[in-house]
Amino acid sequence: MTASIHDAPRASISTADINVVPTGRGVGAEVRGLNLANIDDTAFARIVRAWHDHSVLLFRDQHLDDHNLIAFSRRLGDLDWAPVQETGRRFVEGMPEIYVVSNVVVNGEPIGSLGAGESVWHTDMSYLDVPPKASMLYALELPSTGGNTSFCNMYSIYDALPEGLKTRIANIKIKHDGTYNSGGYIRQGVTPSDDPRLSPGAVHPLVCTHPDTGRRMLYLGRRRNAYLAGLAVAESEALLDQLWSYVERPEFAWEHVWKVRDLVMWDNRCTMHRRDPFDPASRRVMHRTQVKSELRPA
Ligand code: OGA
Ligand code: MN
Repeated sequence: MTASIHDAPRASISTADINVVPTGRGVGAEVRGLNLANIDDTAFARIVRAWHDHSVLLFRDQHLDDHNLIAFSRRLGDLDWAPVQETGRRFVEGMPEIYVVSNVVVNGEPIGSLGAGESVWHTDMSYLDVPPKASMLYALELPSTGGNTSFCNMYSIYDALPEGLKTRIANIKIKHDGTYNSGGYIRQGVTPSDDPRLSPGAVHPLVCTHPDTGRRMLYLGRRRNAYLAGLAVAESEALLDQLWSYVERPEFAWEHVWKVRDLVMWDNRCTMHRRDPFDPASRRVMHRTQVKSELRPA
């Protein structure tokens, strides 16, 4: 794998077989012409380059079992174990790398996490000192409507900040909360506290440089219980609200409407994502992997 530097996203790259088609929204591209169960090194290098250029890649109509999903994910690096599910179950039997996102209940027990409600803007597992660099989410079963997932571009959001604000936040660190997951569920083993100074989490720079692209980005993680280290809580809250007001702008985001067999691979450092709620009486089943980062955010 080569980690090359690209200052500006290119419009498209094509060969006879591979097409990278930007979403035309704030982030993301669809990659066409690949079967992810069978990728050679040349194709994989193109995927990595497109991923650096567009931060989120969509591959439609992929036929992957958990072994294929793990094998493809491993091309990018070692895998993190999935977070403990909300039920306290650790993982799919024999596959600690797979995180199940689902509202389906079997024998009274949810088979996955996040239910059918909204999942608020976040990036995965940033409450760890070394969060995963990538997540891959594969759609197995979907409701007929709802459950769309949006992604936002944290490079563009940083770039859009006024110069004075960029200067103000240049050396601030932020605690990413580890109390709640993005569905609002309390993580296993955590005693909840809503004092953002006391809640568990990891402290990262608020402005980071992407280690592969060299571009600067805002690193917010999630809003609830976030805390800007060393500031009075009221001051931290006000500054966070100001920064988050840029996240809500539609020009920085792309909303993905899922089809079964879609695989979406996102850069977990320079994007955040959120999910719409859907009818709890319908079924949605997704399997996710998370690829380790070699470096702490810096
Ligand atoms: C995730 C996640 C949203 C969704 O898997 O990390 O946030 O669309 N999923 O299910
Ligand atoms: Mn997530």
